[in-house]
Amino acid sequence: MRIDLVSIFPDAFAPLRQSVVGKAIEHGLLEIHAHDLRDYASDRHRTTDDEPYGGGPGMVMKAEPFLRAVAAIEAASGSRGRVIVPSPQGRALTPAVARSLAAEAHLVFLCGHYEGIDERVPLALRADEVSIGDYVLTGGELAAMVIVDATARFTPGVVGDAASVAGDSFAAGLLDYPHYTRPPVVAGLDVPAVLLSGNHAEIARWRRKEALRRTLRRRPDLLAAADLSPADRRLLEELAAED
Ligand code: ADE
Repeated sequence: MRIDLVSIFPDAFAPLRQSVVGKAIEHGLLEIHAHDLRDYASDRHRTTDDEPYGGGPGMVMKAEPFLRAVAAIEAASGSRGRVIVPSPQGRALTPAVARSLAAEAHLVFLCGHYEGIDERVPLALRADEVSIGDYVLTGGELAAMVIVDATARFTPGVVGDAASVAGDSFAAGLLDYPHYTRPPVVAGLDVPAVLLSGNHAEIARWRRKEALRRTLRRRPDLLAAADLSPADRRLLEELAAED
């Protein structure tokens, strides 16, 4: 997959070269290109923002530099790609959205600052606006990196063990169960005995029950929407009886 990122702070994307996504780049599974939006400005001062029509606070990012950047990316890569504008006004980033982005061959992220980007950019490019949560960041760069990371995990080969993606938090609409590794006692806290029992059926049952317990306590909204089996419902009854 090819990913282009357009921003007035192209160096902000350096963290993508680290860790699991960095390895995917090294292995040729992902190709990442960061572009300086100012290279596509048309004046001596390399201006990329202007005052809002209609007045009001702050500045708005100008349309033409983004449109020129996307045209240059298309010319260089031979494809338009799916254009993503990270924005608190976008649709929520969910596992389904990340999975659908992972199916694309080419993604182009346009990162705004200040009050946002001139509305004609997403309109003209039929861009997808995507939000990473109900809070406002100072710019789209961190959000773009979050979307790239979440998407990369669904790209075959990026996460070494595919079972780890399949069994992840949210994979079945629930939060993940708790994880433990050696040593057996830390700060006076034991590993739950079932995990040392070697009984795989009991371990699977315990993990499912703990995933349900956490989801019930922390994210009842997820539980209400989850696809639960009759066995899950029995575990939920056990949890209710424990309280
Ligand atoms: N840009 C600023 N805040 C954002 C958010 N919450 N999600 C996506 N992009 C953003």
